[in-house]
Amino acid sequence: METLTVELKERSYPIFIGTDILGQAELIRPYIHGNQVMIVTNETIAPLYLEPCKAALSDFQVESVILPDGEQYKNLDTLNSIFDALLIHRFNRHATLVALGGGVIGDITGFAASAYQRGIPFIQIPTTLLAQVDSSVGGKTAVNHPLGKNMIGAFYQPQCVIADTNTLDTLEDRQLKSGIAEVIKYGLINDYEFFSWLEANMDKLLQRDHDAFTYAVKRSCQDKADIVAMDETEQGVRALLNLGHTFGHAIETGMGYGQWLHGESVATGICMAAHLSALNGDLGQKEVKRIQQIIKNAQLPTESPPELSSSKMLSLMSVDKKNVDSGIRLILLKAIGHAVLSDDYRTDDLQATLNYYCKS
Ligand code: NAD
Ligand code: GLY
Repeated sequence: METLTVELKERSYPIFIGTDILGQAELIRPYIHGNQVMIVTNETIAPLYLEPCKAALSDFQVESVILPDGEQYKNLDTLNSIFDALLIHRFNRHATLVALGGGVIGDITGFAASAYQRGIPFIQIPTTLLAQVDSSVGGKTAVNHPLGKNMIGAFYQPQCVIADTNTLDTLEDRQLKSGIAEVIKYGLINDYEFFSWLEANMDKLLQRDHDAFTYAVKRSCQDKADIVAMDETEQGVRALLNLGHTFGHAIETGMGYGQWLHGESVATGICMAAHLSALNGDLGQKEVKRIQQIIKNAQLPTESPPELSSSKMLSLMSVDKKNVDSGIRLILLKAIGHAVLSDDYRTDDLQATLNYYCKS
């Protein structure tokens, strides 16, 4: 097992990465506060992993709440059903929440923990590649609003993250590829060496090679932990983790939550960001092609959905947490491995990028 640390002074916590660690009682027990534990999971994950997780917590009063599966349920109604379960079981402010699942479960459970009785501890047990490399680390928690993705939420750090790479064996291929989009993101932001490793090892990831999984999860978590340690609440450098996300969130929201997966939308969003970076004179055509190629090799989309018009995209992009009064701020690329937060681009070039990608 590998252990990394997210260094946040009194809120620091470990990320455990390994195989068969989900059911290890001695690993999770030190991070449980009080005697009450509520495991939040969904109807797909529960039959696979709820029992071993419960068994590891048998010393405590353990309850579970099983949510419907899907991005479309990451909303205030579902959040309320977690509060219902906590109150029905008379959970007190010393209780611990455990998020067992992908990014949807992790984000909604973390937000529930941040608000229940003004904040109770929680633990992340991510079971998708996307959640293991990104959403379980760094304390961003949220639910969606019909008008904007992740618009209602809080920064709230977990007690620990337990990433059992064996859980990736049961993940559908489409979900695995969606997670690879976020992995590619780290290489592009500030880790050229990792980008090159991904170019050489993409087939291994797609073939679910466990050593490749462990390496990719560890390197991604380390890259993310370093950035979060510098800027927990996204006052600056953390915004770089949103490469491709302003375009991507617009696709997710515009298509209806759950139609395009988060990673699929981010993959296309990265291509759009690369295109705009080239129009901006920062990125060469050779680099744009390399970026498109790695996304194609990961069997992820490089084109935006034909249904979405450029005007709809632009309107959705104007609802983004990075935006300031002066307009849409984007993450652009100066080179592979060098991303910047920028509003220093011509509006015409953004429009040209949207026109190029949006066919309607
Ligand atoms: P998800 O949570 O919807 O999980 C994908 C699918 O895989 C679901 O159907 C789920 O039930 C299923 N599943 C989960 N684990 C499984 C397993 N081991 N075996 C079989 N099936 C399994 O999606 P996701 O891609 O994990 O997460 C996407 C969400 O994460 C989005 O809402 C996105 O906004 C959010 N996100 C948050 C952050 C953050 O920093 N908080 C970062 C990136 C993404
Ligand atoms: N996923 C972006 C962030 O955590 O900041």
